[in-house]
Amino acid sequence: MRVIVTKDYEDLGRVAANIIAAQVTLKPESVLGLATGSSPISTYKNLIKKYENGDLDFSRCYAANLDEYVGLTKDNDQSYAYFMYENLFKHVNIKMENTNIPDGTEPDAAKECARYDAVIKALGGVDLQLLGIGHNGHVGFNEPADCFAKGTNIINLTQSTIDANTRFFEKKEDVPTQAYTMGIKTIMSAKKILLVANGEGKAEIIYKMVAGEITPQVPASVLQLHNDVIVVVDEAAAAMLKEKAPEYIEG
Ligand code: F6R
Repeated sequence: MRVIVTKDYEDLGRVAANIIAAQVTLKPESVLGLATGSSPISTYKNLIKKYENGDLDFSRCYAANLDEYVGLTKDNDQSYAYFMYENLFKHVNIKMENTNIPDGTEPDAAKECARYDAVIKALGGVDLQLLGIGHNGHVGFNEPADCFAKGTNIINLTQSTIDANTRFFEKKEDVPTQAYTMGIKTIMSAKKILLVANGEGKAEIIYKMVAGEITPQVPASVLQLHNDVIVVVDEAAAAMLKEKAPEYIEG
């Protein structure tokens, strides 16, 4: 696991976008595993800039998103499908038919999970998986649990995740309580993983993920077992790691 510390969130976005751009340049038909949330926004902004400058071409890329809320339609402005369209897809030349995301409107969870696993398999797996991390160590929506989930699964979101998401909804009762998510095994099968995190609120979980015990109670800790993970964090998110286990930080 390589840990790169950037001076701030903007710089984090530049570094992470450079890594994704290198992937797409070297393999134009890359399958990009993508994440939503606040952490990757500066990364997406920088990818858009690169595209606009003529430095990046997504026309042969595929995308497979990590997760989607159960019950939200694609045009709901809190759905992850909507987020991806607004924050990346509509600004670049990726073909919408090459983008994939679990279908939050499918009520049959077993069917949807099997369908999404088949989609990822048909793509040949993920080349580069972009991840954020929850305060409790979740990746995708794989919440702390007794064991690591394998394929796509339906998750009952923990209260802390529901609370963290409440800021995006007008009413508390509108906050979804379930999500479909790629499983840990699928995430771990990605050839390369890029995790981004910023802000002091992420400092403790970044420390646990990088230097702590590998346990399904901190789902992201399993990334220690992957042989090609780059963690890009700003100074604030790196603070505890810097203090307690600086040997993990590059440079
Ligand atoms: C989003 C996702 C989540 C987020 C995590 C961090 O697709 O899979 O795991 O990455 O909840 O969210 P932010 O970036 O908003 O702090």
